[in-house]
Amino acid sequence: MITVMGATGNTGGQITERLLDAGERVRAVGRSASRLAVLERAGAEPRVGDSSDPAFLTEAFRGADAVYRLMPYDPRSSDYLGDQRRLGESIVESIRDAGVGHVVALSSVGAEQPYGTGFIVSLHAQEQRLRALAGTDILALRAGSFFEVFQEALGLIAEEGINADTVAPDARIPMIATGDIAEVAAEALRARDWEGFVVRELLGSATSVTPRRPGSSASESASPSSSTCSSRTPRWPPC
Ligand SMILES: NC(=O)c1ccc[n+]([C@@H]2O[C@H](COP(=O)([O-])OP(=O)(O)OC[C@H]3O[C@@H](n4cnc5c(N)ncnc54)[C@H](OP(=O)(O)O)[C@@H]3O)[C@@H](O)[C@H]2O)c1
Repeated sequence: MITVMGATGNTGGQITERLLDAGERVRAVGRSASRLAVLERAGAEPRVGDSSDPAFLTEAFRGADAVYRLMPYDPRSSDYLGDQRRLGESIVESIRDAGVGHVVALSSVGAEQPYGTGFIVSLHAQEQRLRALAGTDILALRAGSFFEVFQEALGLIAEEGINADTVAPDARIPMIATGDIAEVAAEALRARDWEGFVVRELLGSATSVTPRRPGSSASESASPSSSTCSSRTPRWPPC
């Protein structure tokens, strides 16, 4: 039995499908029964609830040989760091109380940095919490930026001929398809062949993208928001 958090999301959905195709039993975690229904029809056992609730999550993890863990987030939250801390503590408590042996944890490039990385600071904090867990083997997948997220920019590019982001213009951004993350995660969840806290970076096939227009200078292409990052460039993730 493998429990997959975020089963209706970018990575969790594809991981669930791969595990089911491989004949594994899967518990699929999300907040909506209707959104989980397609995975239920494919053979997964839905677990509907909020992952910030340790009682719910412990039951979803109980008896699992391995767990796929991610940190869903709401970028519009007025208390982003508080939300992430509560979620992170709930996850760690649930892993410990359910006695989960192996966890594949989606993290991010930049999670090795304690600050200065915007949203990603909460992934650094969560890696520290997971490191402190005794008796659970953790594989932290530090992924680059998801190719699919770039789709959100296509409307602006098509309409206005520009892109807008908070990434420093000189930063070279490793990018990876969520399908490739799902492949690595699903294989690890089945193999469970590592010990301790292990980090694996997923940077795509040596592909990286720089937001700067080819041939342009920093002053030509830097946006007001990116200029606040300029003292720290080049770097990924965004400020
Ligand atoms: N975007 C990038 O470029 C990038 C790069 C590296 C790492 N990451 C990290 O990847 C993670 C997100 O992974 P993803 O894109 O695969 O996920 P996602 O597509 O954002 O989906 C989040 C999933 O979590 C569920 N969910 C949200 N809040 C929940 C809650 N409180 N309780 C239970 N379930 C909840 C959602 O389902 P329902 O809404 O149906 O409940 C959904 O299935 C983040 O930690 C992010 O920092 C992202």
